[in-house]
Amino acid sequence: MKILFAASEAAPFVKSGGLGDVIGALPAELSKNKDNEVAVIIPYYGQLKQNPDIEYMTSFYMPLAWRNTYVGVFKAVVKSKGSVRTKASNVTYYFIDNEAYFGRDSLYGYIDDGERFAYFSKAILETLVNIDFDPDIIHCNDWQTGFLPLFLKALYSKVEKLQKVRTVFTIHNIEYQGKADKSFLPEVLGIDESWRNVATQDNCINAMKSAIVLCDKLTTVSETYSHEIQYAYFAHGLEAIISENQYKTCGIINGIDTSLYNPSTDPKLEYNYRPASMAGKAKCKAQMQEMLGLPVRDDVPMVAMITRLVKHKGLELVEWVADNLATMGIQFVVLGTGDKHYEELFKFLAYTHHDTVSAQIMFDPVMANRLYAASDFFLMPSKSEPCGLSQLIAMRYGSVPIVRETGGLVDTVAPLNIETLEGRGFTFKVFNAHDMLGAVERAAEFYKDKAKLEKHRKAIMKLDTSWREPAEKYMMLYSEIAQG
Ligand code: GLC
Repeated sequence: MKILFAASEAAPFVKSGGLGDVIGALPAELSKNKDNEVAVIIPYYGQLKQNPDIEYMTSFYMPLAWRNTYVGVFKAVVKSKGSVRTKASNVTYYFIDNEAYFGRDSLYGYIDDGERFAYFSKAILETLVNIDFDPDIIHCNDWQTGFLPLFLKALYSKVEKLQKVRTVFTIHNIEYQGKADKSFLPEVLGIDESWRNVATQDNCINAMKSAIVLCDKLTTVSETYSHEIQYAYFAHGLEAIISENQYKTCGIINGIDTSLYNPSTDPKLEYNYRPASMAGKAKCKAQMQEMLGLPVRDDVPMVAMITRLVKHKGLELVEWVADNLATMGIQFVVLGTGDKHYEELFKFLAYTHHDTVSAQIMFDPVMANRLYAASDFFLMPSKSEPCGLSQLIAMRYGSVPIVRETGGLVDTVAPLNIETLEGRGFTFKVFNAHDMLGAVERAAEFYKDKAKLEKHRKAIMKLDTSWREPAEKYMMLYSEIAQG
């Protein structure tokens, strides 16, 4: 099967969050099946222009409403060799070039983001008309590619080359929908009034809504999230549309790149370790304590948070009981950047409790892996969480998750039974600060039983959280809709 992933980011080229990780890993996994031909298409952002692996391919002009716009297409091929246990992968990356839209410092956050990604979505289809690649499936991701199914149906239905294409749309986060003014339909998209209803939600043109309605299959990045977004609490206004389209919806949990996140080979760690030889983990912890200026002690559990410092990650709960966390006999380490309010909160907490709290207000992938390795527990009290990847990485590094029961956290972290050691982590249900604190207290208590802790750690490190199974599920989904 031929599959094209359309997205606004893809590791290793460009990544601002979990979406980039997914688009970096899932296509590679699918390409291990030699019957598949897999490609990814993303914008050619300013920051990619220095990348020597990316080569010019072709260019043409494309009509977009009343304008005629330039579309450049660049290309790179990423292969992995494979090993005794893993097969080789081979993914072609295409990049859409337009200096005015994408030659900027950041990926998002501009006043014309709607127009930039509308252009991108149409340019993808126009590229397929112009190059020698005929996908059976275009797999769109989040609002940035939400207008693609609309363009396909409204403007390309008579183009022979695209007639067999079927679309999958994946919601990674329903909060960001790509909303635009009513005039956007004729002025920017150049699509006629007969499509207005499909593209409109609450008096706005809405990229995500039109994709939900027009795609052939809708997926979310965990099963629980696919149910949650039928409710107003999670759906940011789209609950009715989600419910109406349940018949074509399913949730497929994300995996992680287990060759990249592997404590036994991770070059970012000073000391490597694996279930059969765990000494390195204690050394990683001692080294981290020393580096952060915390007392080097093995009898005190280290609880880590690695996150964007924004409200829906559950930081209001942490704020509410911040003093308790600082004085309950744990070491609490936070790594991340985000809202000034939370950055200041953690800096102040670390200043007033320098023996128990460390605030690393930065984005630092090396430090992140070292903290996964050093920590005993990993706190993720999210208000909502479509999937979450950090809890999977934490488990791979033997850090026991403490999570709120929402979205992908429900599907990946079953509550731990401390007698039988069934389950995976410490969980709490209600979005309440003291319920979270209770879960941290239970974790700290569990830490005292070193034998049990060690046994459980090894068990979660051995879990298969790779892309193997999720990729199989996507293949089944593609097969259901492909026209052959
Ligand atoms: C978004 C979600 C996160 C998910 C990621 C990848 O960032 O917030 O939960 O893991 O997308 O799908």
